[in-house]
Amino acid sequence: MTIDSPIAPDSSTAPAPAAPSAPADAPILEARALTKQYRMPGEIVDAVRGVSLAVLPGEFVALMGPSGSGKSTLLQLLGGLDRPTAGDVFLEGEAISRLSDDQATRLRRERTGFVFQSFNLVPLLNVVENVGLPFTIAGLDPRHGELAGRVRDAIELVDLTGKERHRPDQLSAGEQQRVAVARAIVTRPALLFADEPTGNLDFTTGIDILEALWRTCVDRGQTIVLVTHDAKAAAYADRVFVVGDGRIRDEIVLGRREDHAAGPLIARLAQLGL
Ligand SMILES: Nc1ncnc2c1ncn2[C@@H]1O[C@H](COP(=O)(O)OP(=O)(O)O)[C@@H](O)[C@H]1O
Ligand SMILES: [Mg+2]
Repeated sequence: MTIDSPIAPDSSTAPAPAAPSAPADAPILEARALTKQYRMPGEIVDAVRGVSLAVLPGEFVALMGPSGSGKSTLLQLLGGLDRPTAGDVFLEGEAISRLSDDQATRLRRERTGFVFQSFNLVPLLNVVENVGLPFTIAGLDPRHGELAGRVRDAIELVDLTGKERHRPDQLSAGEQQRVAVARAIVTRPALLFADEPTGNLDFTTGIDILEALWRTCVDRGQTIVLVTHDAKAAAYADRVFVVGDGRIRDEIVLGRREDHAAGPLIARLAQLGL
């Protein structure tokens, strides 16, 4: 297994992330005419019906829509966790939808991070060990040297410094999800995917998670694709794709904002009748 991606580039030598308002022009992620059908006994479910979209490096985008509208299916296609029935997904120009399972798994490990509604932490491991897990799985030792520094940085970014030795059952739900965010960004993935990361949390705790995602975006130039049914969460994004019935119904550009009030997004949704 290659170790290139998890240990490079080094943030201390890498150029500062591009100014958020001026991302490079080539999309980091692109979907072309994506379709996904689930074949059930006696029925075909059209979960995604011809979606095309592009995400630029450093962008924070949200896929927002009601339950059952196809958001999670779309995220799984975009992240290479599932294959489309038709259409293509390009990650950094590479057609991931056409890779073999092994190649896709490798690309996913090296270039993407995922945060889900359920935190999926390993109960017997403490915070440091859970955050270092992507390195451990890659056969590296995250306890020393540069990787230990990366683990420390990720823990600091999600504001969990001081809780390094706590196990998941010794943390609040919000803290556990922040561990999951740290674990997803510790390899410095090109793309961070989050599927309803605040879905199991109360409002205030959910805000902490969104703020942590937002910091990765601003401090590190992290590209983020967030799936949510909640306008308050989507309001953190630079751009919101409104998903309905397996399609992109509309695209709402919010721009980079320090203030994440949902008012302008809700007003625009109302204007569009969505
Ligand atoms: N594994 C599956 N098998 C069959 N149908 C599925 C599967 N996953 C999702 N679906 C169906 O596809 C549609 C979109 O689901 P999903 O992508 O989970 O939507 P969302 O995340 O917006 O709630 C729904 O009708 C759902 O029932
Ligand atoms: Mg879903």
